[in-house]
Amino acid sequence: MLVIHTIAELQSVLQTERQKGHTIGFVPTMGALHEGHASLIRRSASENDVTVVSIFLNPTQFNDKKDLERYPRTLEADCRLSEQCGAYIAFAPSVQEVYPEPDTRTFSYPPTDCVMEGAMRPGHFNGVCQVVSKLLTYTNPDRLYLGEKDYQQIAVIKRMVADLGFKVQIVPCPVIREESGLARSSRNTLLTADERALAANIYRVMKDSLTLGYDVQQTHDYVVEHINAFDGLEVQYFSIVDGDTLADVASWDDADSIVGCITVFCGSKPIRLIDHIRYK
Ligand code: PAJ
Repeated sequence: MLVIHTIAELQSVLQTERQKGHTIGFVPTMGALHEGHASLIRRSASENDVTVVSIFLNPTQFNDKKDLERYPRTLEADCRLSEQCGAYIAFAPSVQEVYPEPDTRTFSYPPTDCVMEGAMRPGHFNGVCQVVSKLLTYTNPDRLYLGEKDYQQIAVIKRMVADLGFKVQIVPCPVIREESGLARSSRNTLLTADERALAANIYRVMKDSLTLGYDVQQTHDYVVEHINAFDGLEVQYFSIVDGDTLADVASWDDADSIVGCITVFCGSKPIRLIDHIRYK
């Protein structure tokens, strides 16, 4: 596997691959790789001749400086895991390489980017669109692998890809969970063992809500009440939305695809955890 730090070298290696007629799969990440990322890399490696993994902790998508400061940085281990999963290139540029000057572009794809995470983390999806549009320009992949762990991120990136006319197929990949049901996340390493066990209740309660036969409002209230009942868990929002547009639904008949998206504060630091469940 090649570890590349500059855009020029990345483009030169990929140009050679394209000339050979090779297809390119792209997996963008912020590093601190775990089984969730690994599943995306393996999938890309099985469906493309060349897989590029980017490892770049993008400062423009962090509206909370502390979150950025404490984000785990594990480049060597990330490169090892990427190679084991079949990546051909790990692209790990510096902030200066990606942002030689401040990115002043703004992206707006309502309602996908202004509800839920967009409302709680102002500027977050703008930063995601800034970096993903740059990375797609450098890489020009055939397929882009994104995890459903960040359900809303996929909806926003789909809009951006259509808007900017990138010729790339987006491949959504299922959430990888720990045995307890907790969605794998780089931020899980910031939880104590007790907090990790506590956090498993988030998915468990959401799963229980599938079986109750409640309407949308009752389902919402059930999930919020039962998660908040745990000392150390606090729901920031739980939104039951159209799975494509992310607009709120009032009834199960309002859309063909319906998901519940949740963010919960866990523990005393606290750590912000996100997850979702599909109702339809
Ligand atoms: P990051 O949080 O590192 O995630 C990189 C990719 O891995 C995303 O597509 C995410 O949804 C996926 N992923 C993370 N945990 C997962 C899990 N448990 N199961 C399945 N997939 C999982 O998302 C980002 O980085 C950034 O916003 C990025 C798109 C790289 C732009 O900076």
